[in-house]
Amino acid sequence: MVPKISTLSGYIFEYQKSVTNPTGFWSNLADTFYWRKKYTQTLEWNFEKPEIKWFINGKLNITENIFERHMFHRAEQAAIIWEPNNPEEAYRTITYKELFAEVKRFSNVLLSLGVKKGDRVAIYMPMVPELVITMLACARIGAIHSIIFAGFSSQSLGERIMDAGAKILVTSDGGYRGAKTIPIKQISDEAMESCKCVEKAIVLKRTGENINMKPGRDLWWHDLMATANDTHKAEEMDSEDPLFILYTSGSTGKPKGLVHTTGGYMVYTAYTFRNVFQYGDGDIYFCSADIGWITGHSYLVYGPLLCGATTLMFEGIPTWPDAGRFWDIVDKHQVAQFYTAPTAIRSLMAMGLEWVKQKKLDSLKVLGTVGEPINEDAWHWYHDHIGKDRCPIVDTWWQTETGGIMITPLAGIIPTKPSYATLPFMGIQPVIVNPEGKELMGNSVEGNLCLDFPWPGIARTIWGDHERFKQNYFAAFPGKYFTGDGAKRDEDGYYRILGRVDDVINVSGHRLGTAEIENAIDEHPLVSESAVVGYPHPIKGQGIYAYVVCKQFSTGGEEGIKNSILMAVTNFIGSFAKPDKIQIVSGLPKTRSGKIMRRILRKIAEGQTTDFGDTTTLLDPEIVNEIIKGAEKLK
Ligand code: WTA
Repeated sequence: MVPKISTLSGYIFEYQKSVTNPTGFWSNLADTFYWRKKYTQTLEWNFEKPEIKWFINGKLNITENIFERHMFHRAEQAAIIWEPNNPEEAYRTITYKELFAEVKRFSNVLLSLGVKKGDRVAIYMPMVPELVITMLACARIGAIHSIIFAGFSSQSLGERIMDAGAKILVTSDGGYRGAKTIPIKQISDEAMESCKCVEKAIVLKRTGENINMKPGRDLWWHDLMATANDTHKAEEMDSEDPLFILYTSGSTGKPKGLVHTTGGYMVYTAYTFRNVFQYGDGDIYFCSADIGWITGHSYLVYGPLLCGATTLMFEGIPTWPDAGRFWDIVDKHQVAQFYTAPTAIRSLMAMGLEWVKQKKLDSLKVLGTVGEPINEDAWHWYHDHIGKDRCPIVDTWWQTETGGIMITPLAGIIPTKPSYATLPFMGIQPVIVNPEGKELMGNSVEGNLCLDFPWPGIARTIWGDHERFKQNYFAAFPGKYFTGDGAKRDEDGYYRILGRVDDVINVSGHRLGTAEIENAIDEHPLVSESAVVGYPHPIKGQGIYAYVVCKQFSTGGEEGIKNSILMAVTNFIGSFAKPDKIQIVSGLPKTRSGKIMRRILRKIAEGQTTDFGDTTTLLDPEIVNEIIKGAEKLK
C-alpha cells in the first residue's frame, strides 16, 4: 500500500526528500506496487526533446495492481457504489471480486473481437459501471482506451475516433442525464459514418430505447458477455506502454490526444489520491466528475481503485430531481470524501440553503475542488454549509497533461487559505517566470506557471504529433514545462492559480479552446468570421462571448442567425460549448498585419468601455467604438 503522510512536519520532510533525491524518492514508492519485472532505472528525461521515461524496463499490468494485489483482503469489499440518475432506481454495489470477474470477461470479449495490445478502443458511454469495466479491460489486455465525454456531438466524437484510429467503439443505446435522455447510439452511428477505422461497435443496453443495430458491425454487450469466461491473465506491459489517450482543448482548433503511460501514471495517481484526500480503509469516496475528463480517469477510477478504495460513481446531475441530490447521496452512502468542481458549488449555492438544511452531512471528513479557480464566496459556502466548519477543503490544481494533482493541500495537514491551491505535492517543483522567461525567485511574485522537473504522471506525448507536444508545452520557456496558467506565489510561499494565459477558457469546469468554438461558428454559411473570448460568469466561472461578422442575414434577422449559430456549435462540439452571448459586429479589431486584438475584445466582454491601451496599430480604430456600443445593448 502506498504510504500516507499524516503530519505537517512529515510533509515538509518528504517534500524535501522528493526534490533533493527525486529518483530515490519515487523508486521507494514504486516498490510498494506489484511489478512482474522490476525496472532497471527510475528516470530518464530531457525537456528539450522532450522525452520523459519513468521506471524504465519495468513490466507490469495496472489491473494486477488493482485486482490481484487486493484480492486476498478486499474481495468482498465494495469497489464501486453506483448511484443511478433516478433515485427511485436501485443503486448497485460491486465488490472487488465481482468487478474483477467482469473485467476479465470483458477482456475476453475484446480479445475475441481481435483487439490486440496497442490497438485503440474508443469509449462513448454514460456514467455506468460498464464504462469502468471497459476501461479496465482495455488496460488488462494492453489496448489503449480513448474515452470521449458523452456530451460531445457526433462530429467531435468522429474526429477523436479517427485521430486515434480506434478499431472498436464501446457505447450504449442511450443515457440518462437528469430529466433528459441522450441518444448515445444515434450520435455514435452518425460519428461512425465518417470513421472507416471502426470495425465493431459494442452496445450496452441502458435506456432500452429503440436503436438501429447495423448487422455485421454492432453487437450487444449482454450477448457477448453471456458467453465470455472469467479467467484471463493480464498482458505484460512495459512501464512506458501507453495506457490511454485523452483529448483536451488547446489554443488551436484541433483537440490534442494526450498520451499517458502505465507505470508512472499508476504510481502518481495512487500516491496523490491517498495523500491529498487522506483516504483511510472503510471510507466511501465520491468524485462527481465525469469519467470523460481527466478527473474521472485519475480520481474516480485509477487512483481510488489502486488504493483499494470504495469509489462512488454517480450517473446523474447535481440538480435533479432537486438541488439537494449531492447531499442526499452523501447521507445515503455515508460519504467521507467528496470531490467536485467550483461551478457545481456555485450553482448549488445560488439555489439557496433550503436544499442543504435538512441534510445531515455528518459522514463528511474532506471536501475537494478541481478544474477552475474557486472564488472566496463559494469556498466559504462549501466550508460552512457542507463541511460544517469541520472538513478541510483541498483546492487541487492540475491538468489533463499532468495526469494527477500537482499543487494542493494534503487534507487536514497543510493549512488552507480560501482560493489558494497552497503548496506543491511531493516531487513537484513549480517555478514562476516572467514573459521573457526569467525565473522569479522568492515570494510575492506573479507570472507564468512552469514546472522544472518531471513527475511520474506527466503525459509523454500528443498522439501522432510529438512536435506539437514540444511546441505546446516545452518551447515557450526552454527547459521547462509550461502549464498555460498564470499563478501568484504569495508572501507565505502559497500558490494561487490566476487562470489561463492562453486562448483556452474554462467554462463550468470544461476546458475549451476559443479557436475550436470559432471554427464551429465559422462553419455557419452566413458567417464570415468570428472571435471568441471568455468573460467572468457568476456560476460558470467563465462565460463564452462570441463576436460574429456576418455576410448577410437570412430570414429571422439577427435573432434567427444567433439561434442557428447556437445550433452549429451544438452540432460541431456539444451544447456545453454554446456561447452565452453573441454580438453581431460589422468587423473585428485587427492590426495592420491582420491579427485580431483579442485583448480589446476580452476587455469589452468584461464590460470595460475605456482604457484599451495602445490601439495605434489597429487598422480601423473606429470599430472599437461600434463594438462597445453593441456590447452595452447585450448587457
Ligand atoms: C484549471 C482538470 C484553478 C487550470 C484537472 C488548468 C484550476 C486547467 C484548478 C486544466 C484549480 C484546474 N484552481 N484552476 N484548483 N484545477 N484548473 O485539463 O486553468 O480539464 O490549466 O484538468 O483547469 O483543465 P483540465
